[in-house]
Amino acid sequence: MITTTPDTTRVAAITTGLDRLRRSLHTAEDGVPRHLDEPPWEPGFVADLPRAGVGSLRMAEFDYTSAELHGRAGLTDDLAMAGPVELLTARGAQALRTICRDLKPWAVHNDYVVSHRLRNVEAVSPFVRAMVRDPAFLRNASRLVGVPLIPHPLRNAGVQINYYAPPADGAAPAVAKWHLDGMNYVFTMTLSDHAEHTGGDYVYYRGHPRDFDINREKITAMGASHPEVHAAPFQHVGDTMFTRGSRVYHAVTPVSRGDRITLAVSLFCPLLGTQDENRFWHSAPDDGLLRTLGNWRRLRRAVRRPATYCRREGIPVIPSAGRSE
Ligand SMILES: [Fe+2]
Repeated sequence: MITTTPDTTRVAAITTGLDRLRRSLHTAEDGVPRHLDEPPWEPGFVADLPRAGVGSLRMAEFDYTSAELHGRAGLTDDLAMAGPVELLTARGAQALRTICRDLKPWAVHNDYVVSHRLRNVEAVSPFVRAMVRDPAFLRNASRLVGVPLIPHPLRNAGVQINYYAPPADGAAPAVAKWHLDGMNYVFTMTLSDHAEHTGGDYVYYRGHPRDFDINREKITAMGASHPEVHAAPFQHVGDTMFTRGSRVYHAVTPVSRGDRITLAVSLFCPLLGTQDENRFWHSAPDDGLLRTLGNWRRLRRAVRRPATYCRREGIPVIPSAGRSE
């Protein structure tokens, strides 16, 4: 079962158009030290994926027609959401939680999509970089979705930590506004127990984005009380949800007590690279024009010559991915 009862709240939707250009005209400089003290990644941190029993929703349940789906002949790609599932053992999830907590001072406040987050985590955490390149981790993620997956070539958006806490005096609350991701394959790993915070629900609209856009005002105004808005059932540190972020509208409601931390890991299907839905102007407002240009070159290399790209980047190639059901 995918849904729980969310706390009632409202979240705005992201801006578009000229506002994106204005936000892109900056130089992204995170200033994070490159040698943080963190435990090493261990292959034993990868959890066993359950053979069955993971809740899931297909794209048809979001009113997508078969003509709209990703995939190609012989490679079905119609999973909309799945989870919760553990991709890491309890010890692995606790190690990741400590690392992400320690990185909080370098997270950036930004009111574009997610209020408070650190992007390009692969660049600052050898643990996270090794995790998303671990063959067993990638095999499990691939099996869950049913297509082979590798780390996303758009590094800045690929792995990010999102921090949610009650607002300081007079400040706007930390949220993720209603949005679609550029990423097709997003794994959101919660690093807080739900009991540690009030609010901070990951909510999603169970319907087609076309209908969301038509009813945007009503949905954002009603928030969790809208009949088609549901909350993902995150409960414990390490709980992970897969979402086809580019096709499912989602948001995170404000936290009114405690802290919530999530790691969002976006992966890439080298067999379906041309179907990647990232758009230049989606990430430029966050990363600045120069960094976005560099990331875009890497994405084009991965789309055109995926095998060469994986070899050059030291990424294990997952040859096949049978669905885990
Ligand atoms: Fe998102």
